[in-house]
Amino acid sequence: MSLLTVEHLTIARASGRGEPLVDDVSFTVDAGEVVGVVGESGSGKTLTGLSLLGLLPDGLTATGSLSFDGRELLAQSRSEWERTRGADIAMVLQDPSSSLHPMLKLGEQLTDHVRLHLGMSKTDARARALELLARVHLPDPERILTQYPHQLSGGMKQRVSIAVALACDPKLLIADEPTTALDANLRTGIIALLDELRRESGMGVIFVTHDLAMLSSIADRLYVFRTGHIVESGRAERVFRSPEHPYTRVLLDAVPQIPWPLPKEIQQ
Ligand SMILES: Nc1ncnc2c1ncn2[C@@H]1O[C@H](COP(=O)(O)OP(=O)(O)OP(=O)(O)O)[C@@H](O)[C@H]1O
Ligand SMILES: [Mg+2]
Repeated sequence: MSLLTVEHLTIARASGRGEPLVDDVSFTVDAGEVVGVVGESGSGKTLTGLSLLGLLPDGLTATGSLSFDGRELLAQSRSEWERTRGADIAMVLQDPSSSLHPMLKLGEQLTDHVRLHLGMSKTDARARALELLARVHLPDPERILTQYPHQLSGGMKQRVSIAVALACDPKLLIADEPTTALDANLRTGIIALLDELRRESGMGVIFVTHDLAMLSSIADRLYVFRTGHIVESGRAERVFRSPEHPYTRVLLDAVPQIPWPLPKEIQQ
């Protein structure tokens, strides 16, 4: 059984007006698997991710089935959703600043987060925060705890927001364009980190991006979104080698050449 089985997910305006924004989408994610979700702007990738956290914007509703780790997420009460978000499913966003408070030192933010979700003492939470920063390969975690977000580079901030997401050892991580704001070097670093985390902890990862090339070194399977539908899915290698849907071909043509798999020196 998959870690996550999404069946006939439809996200529409509660008013019933207009076409659904996500229309009858089905996909699965296994433990330890990286599933790439790719597609044009406005195709419903972020809304799909938010629905898995019970965080759809006001005025939108989800129907269908989101079966996670043996339970139906869409049947959850508000407090059950809170536990799911704290402990089981976490999301990393494109702009790490949006998940970090600009006026609070990172130490305060991380330890508060850990205390809130894991109910730890201040001392234990600080130790956990240091452990998390080390896990995402941030140098000098002690120093980072004393700094404000603006004192870190974009890549470092993104690592901190991944550390926040990992605080409760989620079984599923949704990474929504986690590397778009970063330069090429930092981008490959974050991808290598996500790859390592899924190997070490068996976490399932949904990696959302516009950029197919980005997925060539990490995704096991791909789902191609277009205007709220999945138009193609399959093993990443197959989709890269012989795309079936014309839209996937268009996406691939936008990437001059994707060697498969990427040479090791590029992956690092
Ligand atoms: N709160 C909302 N109310 C109504 N429509 C919305 C709302 N949020 C998003 N939408 C619409 O839903 C569609 C899907 O949006 P979504 O953010 O999921 O796209 P996306 O695939 O993540 O795009 P991008 O690649 O630009 O991030 C878009 O047409 C968007 O305009
Ligand atoms: Mg989006």
